[in-house]
Amino acid sequence: MNKESIDALLKKINDTSTGAGNPRAKQVVNRIVRDLFYTIEDLDVTPDEFWSALNYLTQAGQSGEYGLIAAGLGFEHFLDLRMDEAEAKAGLTGGTPRTVEGPLYVAGAPRSEGHAKLDDGTTPGEPLIMGGRVYDDGGQPIVGAVVEVWHANHLGNYSYFDKSQAPFNLRRTIVTDSEGKYSFQSVVPVGYSVPPEGQTKQLLDLLGRHGNRPAHIHFFISAPGHRKLTTQINIAGDPYLWDDFAFATRDGLVPPMRKAEADEAGQFGLDGPFQKIDFDFTLLRDSTSLRTSEVDRIRAEG
Ligand SMILES: [Fe+2]
Repeated sequence: MNKESIDALLKKINDTSTGAGNPRAKQVVNRIVRDLFYTIEDLDVTPDEFWSALNYLTQAGQSGEYGLIAAGLGFEHFLDLRMDEAEAKAGLTGGTPRTVEGPLYVAGAPRSEGHAKLDDGTTPGEPLIMGGRVYDDGGQPIVGAVVEVWHANHLGNYSYFDKSQAPFNLRRTIVTDSEGKYSFQSVVPVGYSVPPEGQTKQLLDLLGRHGNRPAHIHFFISAPGHRKLTTQINIAGDPYLWDDFAFATRDGLVPPMRKAEADEAGQFGLDGPFQKIDFDFTLLRDSTSLRTSEVDRIRAEG
C-alpha cells in the first residue's frame, strides 16, 4: 500500500472516535499505530511475524518482564537523558548524574539514622563500607536527606524477588545525620544477567546482544525542596562496566573502591580487611518550571 492509502485507513479508524476520550491517549496511541502501520508496510511484515510479536508481548506481560525489556531496549536510559535535558534547559546542572531505576526496588525497607547494616549477616561476600554526604547544589550538606539503597547479593539476586533471602536483605533507608552524612555496611555486590529462560533474553538473543549488568548499587536520594535523584554507583573493574545491557553506567558514577586493611576495621565494627567506597551525592534544587523527577510507576511493596 502507498502512504496515501495507509493515511486514508488511519483517518477512517481515527474518525470512529465520537467521544472526547482522553486527548493525550488519543494523540499517543494514534501516533504509535501510524508508525507501526508504516513499519509493517515499509518492512513488509508478514502476518506470521505480526502474530508472533503479539504472542511474544503477551508472554512478556505474563512473566512481568516489561521493566527489563524497557531497560534493555534503552527506553529507560532515553527517558533519563530527556530529563537531564529538561533540567539543563531550566538552568539546573551540577547534580549527581541520574541513571535507571530498574524494576527491582521494593518500598518499605527498614529505616535508620546515619548508618545501616544492609545484610542480615548470612550473605556471603567481601565486606563493604560505603559512605559520604548528601549535598545541595550550593555545596551545603543536607541534614535529614533520605537515602534509599538496594543491591543484589553474591549470586546477583535481589531480596523479595528471590524468596531465599530474608525480607529487605540488602535494602535499607538511611536518613542523613546532623552533618549530612550517611554510611552503610554491606557486602560487595556482583553483576547479574537477565533471566536465562525469559522474554528479555529471547529478544536480546534475536538482536545479537547480551543481557549482562555490571555490579552496581541502586539509590533513591530525596530531600524536601530538592529534585529526587534516582541513580546507581558501579563497582569499578567489572568486566561489563561500560557494556551494560541497560546502558546505566555514566561518568561520575564509578567511584574507586579501595581495599582497607584490618587496622581500619575496628572503627566500623569489623574484624578483618574490607572494601571501602566514599561517595557524595549532590541534589538539584526543585524548580516549579519542571515536571517532578518523581517517576510514577508500579513498585513492589515489602
Ligand atoms: Fe540492579
